[in-house]
Amino acid sequence: MKLKDRHVYVTGGADGIGAAIVLDAAEAGSKVSFCDLNVEKGKAYEAELKSQGHRAFFHEGNVGKTESMQIVFAAITKEFGDVYGLVNNAGRNAYNDPVEMTEAEWEDFMNVDFKSVWTNSKLVLPAMRKNKFGSIVNISSIHARMSYMNYFPYAAAKAGIIGLTRNLSLDEAKHGIRVNSVLPGFTLTPMVEDYFVKNPEKRAEALSVQPMGRMAQPSEIAKVVTFLLTDDASFVNGADWIIDGGLSQRFA
Ligand SMILES: NC(=O)c1ccc[n+]([C@@H]2O[C@H](COP(=O)([O-])OP(=O)(O)OC[C@H]3O[C@@H](n4cnc5c(N)ncnc54)[C@H](O)[C@@H]3O)[C@@H](O)[C@H]2O)c1
Repeated sequence: MKLKDRHVYVTGGADGIGAAIVLDAAEAGSKVSFCDLNVEKGKAYEAELKSQGHRAFFHEGNVGKTESMQIVFAAITKEFGDVYGLVNNAGRNAYNDPVEMTEAEWEDFMNVDFKSVWTNSKLVLPAMRKNKFGSIVNISSIHARMSYMNYFPYAAAKAGIIGLTRNLSLDEAKHGIRVNSVLPGFTLTPMVEDYFVKNPEKRAEALSVQPMGRMAQPSEIAKVVTFLLTDDASFVNGADWIIDGGLSQRFA
């Protein structure tokens, strides 16, 4: 119960890695709030968690829209009080050609996968500073370091998260707040399944290069996130945690 009674807020918590983080934080004793675009899944998950005896609260929200995040923030803090732990998890894929992508598409995507990491941090930081206590974990990706062709906006956003994490960690350390990022490799979530459906040849290719012969389960990412949220990680700040089964250590 290393997060006992602490309010942890996860974006995009209704499915995939976010849902696994929500569960792991709840099992560590936290009061866990989460937002998502998918209201049906979010409500069902909240009910499931409550039926298991956890303290959970869901609110509909789009991380790409600051006004929506302000509404979610007001609701979750009313329910559970100041946020101790923020996990900026919500994100989506972007497959684009650098010439054909429009500025509107770029902005729409970056608002979700990159800007929201800052706008959500901006919402939780005042109370964290006041309490001199807090932990932020930003979900980046191994695409911050290596990528595919026609995946440039995603790689740019995920690399940007590492830079943002670095500077927030420097700025907030004096306030007792730690900021870290996590870089998952292939993790079996709906987002990845969607990618393999669109690119069927990639499934076998992805598996063939995995040093551990498999991809990650969402819970394996969640365990590291929970660690970073707890006091066990009290001197971990500004770090990028790669969780890819060794994939990025492999010579192409
Ligand atoms: N799955 C992987 O292999 C992998 C690898 C590296 C990084 N990541 C990152 O992990 C995070 C979660 O990915 P996932 O694979 O669990 O995805 P997913 O699509 O399976 O789940 C994402 C959840 O976020 C929600 N969401 C999407 N856009 C949103 C928005 N604008 N506002 C609020 N909620 C929104 C979705 O409804 C969904 O419930 C993402 O940031 C992704 O880039 C995933």
